Amino acid sequence: MERKKITIPDLKKMKEAGQKITMLTAYDYPLASALDQAGIDAILVGDSVGNVVLGYDSTVPVTMEEMLHHTKAVRRGVKYALLIGDMPFMSFNVSVEEAIRNAGRFMKEAGCDAVKLESASEEVIKTTKAIVDAGIPVQGHLGLTPQTASMLGGMKVQGKDKDTAQKIVDSAVALEEAGAFSIVLECVPDKLAQEITRKVKIPVIGIGAGVYCDGQVLVTHDMLGLYERFTPKFVKKYAELSKDIKEAAGKYIEEVKKGSFPDKEHSFVAKE
Ligand code: KIV
Repeated sequence: MERKKITIPDLKKMKEAGQKITMLTAYDYPLASALDQAGIDAILVGDSVGNVVLGYDSTVPVTMEEMLHHTKAVRRGVKYALLIGDMPFMSFNVSVEEAIRNAGRFMKEAGCDAVKLESASEEVIKTTKAIVDAGIPVQGHLGLTPQTASMLGGMKVQGKDKDTAQKIVDSAVALEEAGAFSIVLECVPDKLAQEITRKVKIPVIGIGAGVYCDGQVLVTHDMLGLYERFTPKFVKKYAELSKDIKEAAGKYIEEVKKGSFPDKEHSFVAKE
């Protein structure tokens, strides 16, 4: 059967049918193209680009221009997956008008299918509704929200006590009511994720939120072993690319130094 482009209603149908949704991050053309060919359902151009590609200490410094630059490259590599652009810190927090304008840039300039907004504040829920009303699909992001991690006491598991757990449940319901088509749920206990996944009709995509979510997302550089600075507990490494790169580069350096590369096979040898 011919493969079709994944749409937002497809994700909802997958939830209803109990089929798990797969999502990974990408920040450039070759990675996006490989993930798309592998059959991923959704690709997020995460503001994690700040950490894993640009070398910042957090996602806070990431700008709209940086996000658009990377998202355009990803767009060129994606044929089938749903493409979601992550709105960077302060691109949706100053005013609703600015948030709609910036969300629009992800759609018009970078060719996204949807945008993602972090946090569960009342303001962000209102902004979510306004962006949806403007005709732009929004994915929410609850639990640990790295852009505002300092307000949450750092990069740690959220919703461990009854009150904070209830707040996350309430925010998920509010986001659904505001028109979000999906929610990313980061770093919460698995039973809380299960409760939220059962409570809302929109797909819940977990990261560090256990097995009961409708789908899973990971930062691709983490799961490929390409980012060595820090690996969260919830990341499973499916490859060790940093190690492979160092081995390959080491071999290249050795062969160039000793003159065994380029050999005849990799040269345009003049006829004598
Ligand atoms: O920026 C990102 O990569 C994300 C994922 C962790 C979901 O928001």
